[in-house]
Amino acid sequence: MSETKETLSGYSDSAYEALGADPARKLYLQYPGLKEAEESGGPKIKSRLDILSLIPRNKIGAEIGVFTGRFSRALINYTKPERLYLVDAWHLLWGSHFPNWNSTAEGKLETDAAIKATRLRTAEPKDVAKIVISESLPWLESLPPLHLDWVYLDSSHGYKKTKMELAAISPKMKIEGLIFLDDCRSDRSHRHHNVFRAVQEFSKETEWEIF
Ligand SMILES: C[S@@+](CC[C@H](N)C(=O)[O-])C[C@H]1O[C@@H](n2cnc3c(N)ncnc32)[C@H](O)[C@@H]1O
Repeated sequence: MSETKETLSGYSDSAYEALGADPARKLYLQYPGLKEAEESGGPKIKSRLDILSLIPRNKIGAEIGVFTGRFSRALINYTKPERLYLVDAWHLLWGSHFPNWNSTAEGKLETDAAIKATRLRTAEPKDVAKIVISESLPWLESLPPLHLDWVYLDSSHGYKKTKMELAAISPKMKIEGLIFLDDCRSDRSHRHHNVFRAVQEFSKETEWEIF
C-alpha cells in the first residue's frame, strides 16, 4: 500500500467525500475531540481504494480495529457486504480517550464519540453492520468455524498480537478466504514493520499464501 501525501491542515479525501454527506459530523459539536481529530487528518480512504477493489462483494466480512468508522463506511459502500462485523475494544482498552496517536487530536479523541460515529456511519443499509465492542481474540474465539469470507485486520499493529490474531482468524475463514492487513511495511525502520514480520512468519508456518 502506498503512503499518502495529504497535508495535516484541512483534511481532504475525495474518495471519502464521494460517499456523500457524513452522518457523523453532527457529533462534532458534542465531541470536540472527534472534530479536531477528523479535521486535522485521520485514516484515509483514497490510498486504500486498491484494497477496496480486491475485497469480494456481497460476502461476510470483518473489520478488526474500527476507530471512528470512516473506513467501515467505505467498506460497506464499496464491497456491499451481506454482513460486516466491526470489532474494536474502544473504551475497554483505552478508557474515556484514545492514547496520543497520530489521528487522535493528541489524546483528546473520546472513545465514546468513536463508537457513536461508527454507529452513524454504518447504520445504512439496515442490519448489515454488526458493531462488536470487544478485544479481537475473544471475539474471534466466539465465532463458528469457516464463518468469514474476508477480514480487514487493522488493530494492535504489534508483532505478538498480530500473530495471535492471524492464528485465531485462520480457522474462522472459509476456504479461499482473504485476510487483508493494514500497515504491512517491509521497511525495517518503519514503526509498523512488526506487522510485516508477523505476516511473513505466519505464512511460513501455515498454508496461508501472501499475495
Ligand atoms: C488504526 S485504528 C483502526 C483504523 C480503522 N480501521 C480505519 O481505517 O479507519 C486501530 C484500532 O484498533 C483498535 N484495537 C487495538 N487493539 C485492539 C484489540 N486487541 N482488539 C480490538 N481492537 C483493538 C483500537 O482501539 C483502534 O481503534
